[in-house]
Amino acid sequence: MSSELRTQVAIVGAGPAGLLLGQLLQRAGIDTLLLERRSADYVKGRIRAGVLEPGTVEVLEYADAARRVRAEGLTHDGVEIGSSGRRNRIALKELTGKLVTVYGQTEVTRDLMDARTTSGAPSVYEAEDVSVSDIGDSPRVRFSSNGETREVVCDFVAGCDGFHGVCRRSVPPDFLSISERKYPFGWLGVLADFRPPWAELIYAASDRGFALASMRSETRVRCYIQCSLDDSVEQWPDDRFWEEFGARVGQDIRVRIPNVPSLEKSIAPLRSFVAEPLRFGRLFLAGDAAHIVPPTGAKGLNLAVSDVFYLYEALRTFYKEGTERGIDHYSHRCLRRIWRAERFSWWMTRLLHRFPGDEFDQRMQQTELEYLFESHAAQSSLAENYVGLPL
Ligand code: FAD
Ligand code: DHB
Repeated sequence: MSSELRTQVAIVGAGPAGLLLGQLLQRAGIDTLLLERRSADYVKGRIRAGVLEPGTVEVLEYADAARRVRAEGLTHDGVEIGSSGRRNRIALKELTGKLVTVYGQTEVTRDLMDARTTSGAPSVYEAEDVSVSDIGDSPRVRFSSNGETREVVCDFVAGCDGFHGVCRRSVPPDFLSISERKYPFGWLGVLADFRPPWAELIYAASDRGFALASMRSETRVRCYIQCSLDDSVEQWPDDRFWEEFGARVGQDIRVRIPNVPSLEKSIAPLRSFVAEPLRFGRLFLAGDAAHIVPPTGAKGLNLAVSDVFYLYEALRTFYKEGTERGIDHYSHRCLRRIWRAERFSWWMTRLLHRFPGDEFDQRMQQTELEYLFESHAAQSSLAENYVGLPL
């Protein structure tokens, strides 16, 4: 084995959670080493979330990584909810005083990677066979890179390695409690370059299933339809996708979709998942490593950012004030917000998707939508959660 590496916080995973934590800690003078299984280009190319809560943009600002999101992000002061051919606007700004920012996760990732390069903080991409040991008191992280095995000795490990990562699996199962719900459908997403014929996002419920009209910029759209878990992208050529999308969102939209080839197409399953607590000894879980929400409501990325902000505060308190108070409260502090986002994402998913259910379930869903369209209080509740609960 070659030389031992030493850092204060070893961060596993260079998704938004790992990169943001690294940036916040570096700025506070705390050393980090970032280990990522994939190449930097692969991570940057992964198309995922698109809506940032104002609190998320503030944290990016605090991390000195918000120049581009402030300049190029699209601020939206409302969203539309469609049902039975009608569309109703939820006036986010009027109801909450807040706006959301449409800015792709790919761009957040790029901004944070650039900030890390500028700071000179070390990262290892294409780190293979990452494993974590001795997390009770003196953690070690092993990995291979370019055929060499390396060992990192550190004070703490931040498990920011997503749902399929290694960190959560390193906690003895008896210490974790898992709550999970799988949904009987997925989302088929398409990215394409044309001017969005919608001004705000449209979340549409229909007899044929859910559809979402979103965007990445003034010239790029991102759209989703609810699909079967057995479907493959090959079964959805562009024509079929846009026909189905139009049938769900509205023909006024369908007729304005140009015939251009898609840039990317992928299917994601929907799941609710929480592993608690988020701390075991000197290992912390943050972001998708600890929890998953179904994407309806756009909470996944935002929740990763709030976990990381709390973890940053806890570690800063540890290093600057010499007290474990922050790290002791980390899990509890995160979980309050996590469960609220889980509730909202579950509720939005149930409200808008077609489920295999009986007549009663369908009447309840219809009634809930009607109530939402007619009640100021119901709209306020949706808006308050959509723009994000306070950090
Ligand atoms: P991730 O972004 O998953 O990052 C984890 C990183 O850890 C990855 O780079 C991974 O390669 C790395 N890693 C994994 N295992 C190891 C290992 N053993 N060693 C080293 N590194 C490792 N949210 C929305 O709000 N809207 C959406 O439309 C949406 N779409 C999504 C589509 C998909 C297919 C997925 C998987 C998620 C989607 N999400 C969406 C959720 C959102 O993207 C996530 O909540 C967000 O990426 C969480 O960030 P993270 O940094 O915690 O995890
Ligand atoms: C996007 C994804 C979401 O899950 C959502 O609720 C809103 C927008 C997007 O990818 O643009």
